Amino acid sequence: MTDAAPQTIYLKDYRPFGYYLDDVHLTFRLAASATRVVSRISVRPNVDFPGEFFLHGQDVKLIWAKIDGADVTPVVSADGLTCDAPDGPFVWEAEVEISPATNTALEGLYMSNGVYCTQCEAEGFRKITFYPDRPDVMSVFCVRIEGELPVLLSNGNPTSHGDGWAEWLDPWPKPAYLFALVAGDLVAHSDGFTTMSGKDVALNIYVRPGPDEAKCAFGMGALKRSMKWDEDVYGREYDLDIFNIVAVDDFNMGAMENKGLNIFNSSCVLASPETSTDSNFERIEAIIAHEYFHNWTGNRITCRDWFQLCLKEGLTVFRDQQYTGDQGSHAVKRIEDAITLRSRQFREDNGPLAHPVRPESFIEINNFYTITVYEKGAELIGMLKRLVGDDAYRKALDLYFTRHDGDAATIEDWLQVFEDTTGRDLTQFKRWYSQAGTPRVTVTDDFKDGVYALHFEQQTPPTPGQDSKSAQVIPIAVGLLSQDGTEVQPTTVLEMTATTQSFAFNGLAEKPVPSLLRDFSAPVILQRDQTNVERAFLMTHDTDPFNKWDAGDALAKDVLTKSITENTAPDAAYLDGITAILRNDALDPAFRALCLSLPSEDDMAKALHDAGTVPDPLAIHHAIEALKLTTAQHVQDILPRIQADMIVDGPYSPDAKNAGKRSLANSVLGLLSRLDDGAAAAKQYADADNMTMQLAGLAALLRISKGEDQSAAFRDQWRADRLVMDKWFGLTVSLAAPDLAADTALRLTQEPDFDMKNPNRFRAVFGALAGHSAGFHAPSGVSYRLLGDWLAKLDAINPQTTARMTTAFETWRRYDVGRQDQMRDVLETLAKTAGLSRDTGEMVGRMLG
Ligand code: ARG
Ligand code: ZN
Repeated sequence: MTDAAPQTIYLKDYRPFGYYLDDVHLTFRLAASATRVVSRISVRPNVDFPGEFFLHGQDVKLIWAKIDGADVTPVVSADGLTCDAPDGPFVWEAEVEISPATNTALEGLYMSNGVYCTQCEAEGFRKITFYPDRPDVMSVFCVRIEGELPVLLSNGNPTSHGDGWAEWLDPWPKPAYLFALVAGDLVAHSDGFTTMSGKDVALNIYVRPGPDEAKCAFGMGALKRSMKWDEDVYGREYDLDIFNIVAVDDFNMGAMENKGLNIFNSSCVLASPETSTDSNFERIEAIIAHEYFHNWTGNRITCRDWFQLCLKEGLTVFRDQQYTGDQGSHAVKRIEDAITLRSRQFREDNGPLAHPVRPESFIEINNFYTITVYEKGAELIGMLKRLVGDDAYRKALDLYFTRHDGDAATIEDWLQVFEDTTGRDLTQFKRWYSQAGTPRVTVTDDFKDGVYALHFEQQTPPTPGQDSKSAQVIPIAVGLLSQDGTEVQPTTVLEMTATTQSFAFNGLAEKPVPSLLRDFSAPVILQRDQTNVERAFLMTHDTDPFNKWDAGDALAKDVLTKSITENTAPDAAYLDGITAILRNDALDPAFRALCLSLPSEDDMAKALHDAGTVPDPLAIHHAIEALKLTTAQHVQDILPRIQADMIVDGPYSPDAKNAGKRSLANSVLGLLSRLDDGAAAAKQYADADNMTMQLAGLAALLRISKGEDQSAAFRDQWRADRLVMDKWFGLTVSLAAPDLAADTALRLTQEPDFDMKNPNRFRAVFGALAGHSAGFHAPSGVSYRLLGDWLAKLDAINPQTTARMTTAFETWRRYDVGRQDQMRDVLETLAKTAGLSRDTGEMVGRMLG
């Protein structure tokens, strides 16, 4: 199917399907390499949009087809079939054969460790049978599964079962991408939930028998908390008798919201204190919430076409972010989300892969499950909420749910409910969905006769296919502080709509210090001449936690930049500021830990590039290491006391309070290990009774090139646990010395438990190599070539994961000519690979473009 030139699909070409499907009956006769799927579908022509009867189909062998019981001979092509069809309603029947056992792309029906499972979003259902595989074609599914396996699951409610078969009925019309089937030797961790209207729902998390059974309890708790939260905060109730989650080991993404049968990458659902870190727990809780929340934002209201992906993903990410904030600290969550957005989404938005939150064209839709669609998509919801206010947001959402329940909707529908409930004109706001790129907002200010004025100018650089941009609506949350540090103007939201715009504050006794873009109120880059004295002032006095943290981050970036470009020693403002934060027991430990963490090496490369300097990854690596040492020496005296204060007594619990304490304790350990030669880290490693402390002990040792014994012991201890071994593989590469990173990755691929067919394991090694900035950008180009070779190999097995991982090269134009040439060579070699997938071909083409 790679023979034909890949086709570009355009939003402007959208046209409804020419038929309605009134019901869908599927029978699966499971067999590892020859599963038979029989479909029986009641079809009715769509008189408003007549069209040919075309069904998608890929890698499926047609055995027979009938219309109204009579044999037909459709015209079959590489991507589907076309058949002459009656003018009125008819019944379509077909039998196909597929081979789950050899499906290494992990799309459609495949096998993971002997378990049959599916992944249909976005366009995987067409690998199961011939079908109009598009999200606007919705139908009721009735599924029969035949197979000698203890557990046979599909969407909806179970209707009947017997020895070797089971039947399921999903009464809620859904698109095919939400279809799921799971069959295998599985055991359930079961519980229940009573909904707000008193309906009992059976809850199950299915895993393979064995050690995974002990890793379900936390996920079950998270599911119940999510169900309750969606009732309390959005008024959304669950709508089936049963909700099943299945953990599978081989999965391209994190998890999937199939109606009533969520399928998870086991790394995103299974947790235990001994094997999972605090960050694992936090992530698992967020992903379980995310998939559950999709039941309303995604399933009950789905997307008309894949260009509208952000309609469900942006909103659902926003909802899971709110949820996580409610479980712990909104401030900490906001900072974490802003760090992710600014490092990864800004990187995408400012490179060759930049695309609007709602793209207008694609070749392979799987390439658009991006940080821009998801996380920038969530920022747009946050801005909308900030602009209209909390009450209006809730009213708009209520209208969205009542008006569009059962619909395959669009961004236009979404914005319309806000216009209808608030009377606002959102024409300009809509540009956030269509314009790619990160707006730069330049700020100047002046003070005269008691009037303080802020002058803003916005400008968005060109992105691929979009040379010029129009002004966007930017909510800028602002507060003002007096010179002595008291707040003279509490947070107010300025609504910037023009290219240049000024705002005045009257009646001030002296020139205030502005705190701009509080709570990171818009996904923009703020540009302002600011002294380190002012940054340190905000770090001490700002009442907005995000800006308090951000001032420290800006200060650290300045210190690192000067150390790299001018070889200057760290500004005392930074060291004193950090010391004050560390000492301040009134501050949340989790917040203090965030303040202690320095910008990543990649963030520094971006910062230098933006400032017009060609980044040298090795120099950045050394500068960050040096600053950590200097900081450690500066705060040396207070470290033991903080360590003692952060000791968590009692049994391990992943709650935000305890996790925050461990987070600060481990930041402190990182500093301490640079002074005591790893003594404290070795002790922590030896004493640890949970993975958070054990892994942090090991990491602190590896970071100072020690810990060989502990690494070997860790491996022996956890050899049988795949998820812990992924951590070991990842950490071993991430913390290798820069000149050893490529060798280390290569050596790990030769280990017997390296398995390139398992995306988690492949990502553990090669994601870590790509994320090891100084190692990946080794001047010899050895890491580029190693990754390129492995991506070419993986592409033949699993295009989707390969294509995602090519983004390691998206910043190639940032670097010196030597590195640019080597990275371009790797991309060009990939592009020329015989039989390259459409997925990877599109990505490489855009990066070279
Ligand atoms: N809808 C899923 C989620 O965000 C992601 C599935 C994406 N899968 C894919 N192959 N593109 O929860
Ligand atoms: Zn999602």
